Amino acid sequence: MEKIVIANDHAAIDMKFKLKEYLESKGYEVINIGLDTYDHVDYPDYAYKACQMILKKEVDLGVLICGTGIGMSIAANKIKGIRACACSEPFSARMSRSHNDANVICFGERVIGIETAKEILDAFLSSKFAGAHHVSRIEKIKAIEEGTYTP
Ligand code: RB5
Repeated sequence: MEKIVIANDHAAIDMKFKLKEYLESKGYEVINIGLDTYDHVDYPDYAYKACQMILKKEVDLGVLICGTGIGMSIAANKIKGIRACACSEPFSARMSRSHNDANVICFGERVIGIETAKEILDAFLSSKFAGAHHVSRIEKIKAIEEGTYTP
């Protein structure tokens, strides 16, 4: 079973605790590196720290939650090797893994309810990268990251 890092800013504290409990009830090991108190913080700090854990292979996947999921996903996608998707429904979450080999999922506590968030997580975690013709597309994304991409 995958090991998961979960992180959040001040806009997503309640959802973080509920999803951590939900994932643990399903048997996942969850490492919470997010904000647990109601201070105001900067979401890129949390996105960066969580993504470093993925790159160092301390965990397999990341769940990043902020108000919208957008700031977390923008910050995470700046990091080489991270493919983060901001999702508000399960279909995109499933596709993000099977077609895009996403290793981070993001969503917003101000956008979706807790039950939708659980469905999104279920879809994300139960999907696997499909490989095949999707591999060369991921290779092109990596080339863009490396600055070696040629159209
Ligand atoms: C915090 O107010 C909010 O900007 C943040 O949680 C997130 O929604 C940014 O994308």
